[in-house]
Amino acid sequence: MSMKDAGGWLDNDVALITGGGSGLGLALVERFLAEGARVAVLERSAQKVAALRERFSASEVVAVQGDVTSYADNERAVNAAVEAFGKLDTFIGNAAIWDHASSLVDLTPEQLDSGFGELFSINVKGYLLGARAAARALIASEGSMIFTLSNSSFYPGGGGPLYTASKHAAVGIIRQLAYELAPKVRVNGVGPCGMASDLRGPASLGQQDLRIMDSRTPEAIASILPLQFFPEPADFTGPYVMLASRANNRVLSGVMINADAGLGIRGIRHAAGGLHL
Ligand SMILES: NC(=O)c1ccc[n+]([C@@H]2O[C@H](COP(=O)([O-])OP(=O)(O)OC[C@H]3O[C@@H](n4cnc5c(N)ncnc54)[C@H](O)[C@@H]3O)[C@@H](O)[C@H]2O)c1
Repeated sequence: MSMKDAGGWLDNDVALITGGGSGLGLALVERFLAEGARVAVLERSAQKVAALRERFSASEVVAVQGDVTSYADNERAVNAAVEAFGKLDTFIGNAAIWDHASSLVDLTPEQLDSGFGELFSINVKGYLLGARAAARALIASEGSMIFTLSNSSFYPGGGGPLYTASKHAAVGIIRQLAYELAPKVRVNGVGPCGMASDLRGPASLGQQDLRIMDSRTPEAIASILPLQFFPEPADFTGPYVMLASRANNRVLSGVMINADAGLGIRGIRHAAGGLHL
């Protein structure tokens, strides 16, 4: 029996996912469909939008090409979801770029300036504009927002100062919006650790074609995680389903789930914790 036949946790729900063309966003599209939801996607890459349209029927996925840094594009995506499926239950702010761990002193002052503008526009302003565009529909449906955070929302060293600061800023967005939008809308976050995706860097730093796994190996990522495995994007989707589900989450708002294979419990003595297998 498929998950859908068994009755999904998100039956008849409608979700909008930004950056749903690859990596974690695409895994969320697949998982939300399997749980019975219909999905709209806002995605910058025309190629990825075409691939979504090719793969999924318009009765299950509506893919909108646009940029999260534009309010008009966010509004178009919300309208497309509501026009196609009648309502919006969950907004997932997820599109982001990385800084390839460029450190403070490795960046020239000019790069720090332009890199900040580009990365914060996507990772922080994009979340705010998407939330603003989705707010009315979510108040009407008493739905929820979920933002993709990162281990860099909690710890240093998962990026450089630009990315780490942007992911900490997303924590502030969650706390503030959970406060402002109660009692109608629950607002939460999920912070994944490393995974193989198409995650790239700012064009203003010349990193637009550089992917996260170009400088990392699955083994290196697994070795720093207490749970000692290399997660797939799909491994992170469960917490989003739980947070989105009205039946399974009436009580969590302003909550950040560290979906980071135990990074926070590394302890002082051994990266892998107590059990040395
Ligand atoms: N890959 C990792 O190791 C990792 C770790 C922790 C957190 N994350 C977070 O996961 C989320 C998803 O990233 P991913 O790793 O799946 O990368 P990804 O690049 O595969 O997915 C992000 C998607 O967002 C799209 N996008 C980028 N800028 C956009 C814009 N301005 N407007 C619209 N769409 C845009 C990209 O085209 C891409 O399809 C991000 O928030 C990222 O910070 C990733």
